Amino acid sequence: MTVERDEVLTADPAERAGAAALLEVRDLRIRFTRGGRRVHAVNGLSYRLDAGQMLAIIGESGSGKSVSARALLGLLPSSAEVSGSARFEGTELIGMPEREIRRRRGRDIAMVFQDPARSLNPTMRIGAQITEAIRAHSGIGRKEAGERAVELLKLVRLPAAERRFHEYPHQLSGGMRQRVVIAIALAGEPRLLIADEATTALDVTTQAQIMQLLVELQERLGMAVVMISHDLGLAASYAQHVVVMYAGRAVEYASAGRLFGHVRMPYTRALLGAVPLLEREPHAPLPVISGQPPDPAAIPKGCAFRPRCASATGRCEQAPPFSEHEPGHWWACWHPAEDPPGGSGGGGGGGEDGATR
Ligand SMILES: Nc1ncnc2c1ncn2[C@@H]1O[C@H](COP(=O)(O)OP(=O)(O)OP(=O)(O)O)[C@@H](O)[C@H]1O
Ligand SMILES: [Mg+2]
Repeated sequence: MTVERDEVLTADPAERAGAAALLEVRDLRIRFTRGGRRVHAVNGLSYRLDAGQMLAIIGESGSGKSVSARALLGLLPSSAEVSGSARFEGTELIGMPEREIRRRRGRDIAMVFQDPARSLNPTMRIGAQITEAIRAHSGIGRKEAGERAVELLKLVRLPAAERRFHEYPHQLSGGMRQRVVIAIALAGEPRLLIADEATTALDVTTQAQIMQLLVELQERLGMAVVMISHDLGLAASYAQHVVVMYAGRAVEYASAGRLFGHVRMPYTRALLGAVPLLEREPHAPLPVISGQPPDPAAIPKGCAFRPRCASATGRCEQAPPFSEHEPGHWWACWHPAEDPPGGSGGGGGGGEDGATR
């Protein structure tokens, strides 16, 4: 499938004509070669994110969420073949020289990973790690950077920040470590924070607290956030817009309220399961969809969801275009679900204009 240049996502048709996006990903493609086989990890992904907004990218394991995010920061192994475009404030990130992208990493876009333990140096005190990150970005003196580090620890609501400053990662709980990792990500004052399954390893209560923190930072700092998650409930509660990925492509995109009230793509419906999202247990795991996600070394031609889709017909052997079928609502499907008469579609409730939080 090729995405037409004018088919790039936008929250509001007016914005398409005018204001520049913070991040505009167009027809991103990522291939690896593994054991002599070509792995098609990302196959024409397009989305747009405006400054200060939160976008959730959701999908099953292997759908290309992480590699597409890492590509923005030049964090893929050199074996990866990357094509397409990702413009941050108008500047092309794909193919940017390593020196330049390294300079921008953490300053324009910072990333928080799933496992806070692995993101921290176990042999260094918390304070020293944040101070080092601040100095790497700003070059200010050690004392001033130390003061700023304590401020950052307070900003991420680490309890007893001054005391924790002198502690090692193992002395902190998982939730506290994740706050420290976020503080480090904030050291370069990024305009975009990518949180890749940043709350998955945490218990439900801590997960909600960290999401609340991200929302607070988004609002206070005017920082945009991409949250990558398996958890539709989490996406619906916190993000303004949602991209659903399947086999390395976006298959549905809309505001959170719109999407969960008017699901169109059978894959998204399957993710939601029979139970309307807003009636599900918060943070329930994704329902299991029958069949397997496609092997990225052998993605079916046409609609990649076809072999698992109850609505599939012969027409689905042709790839459906990913386009804006209803205002602000994009999907790639020949047989989109309709809203049931007299009510909203599969997701139950939700407004048109974004988050339900
Ligand atoms: N370095 C690599 N070499 C070869 N294949 C890779 C490499 N990194 C990722 N892949 C493949 O790319 C595909 C997409 O991987 P990715 O990690 O982006 O999935 P994901 O959507 O983030 O999944 P999860 O939810 O499990 O984190 C997978 O099939 C994965 O095996
Ligand atoms: Mg991942």
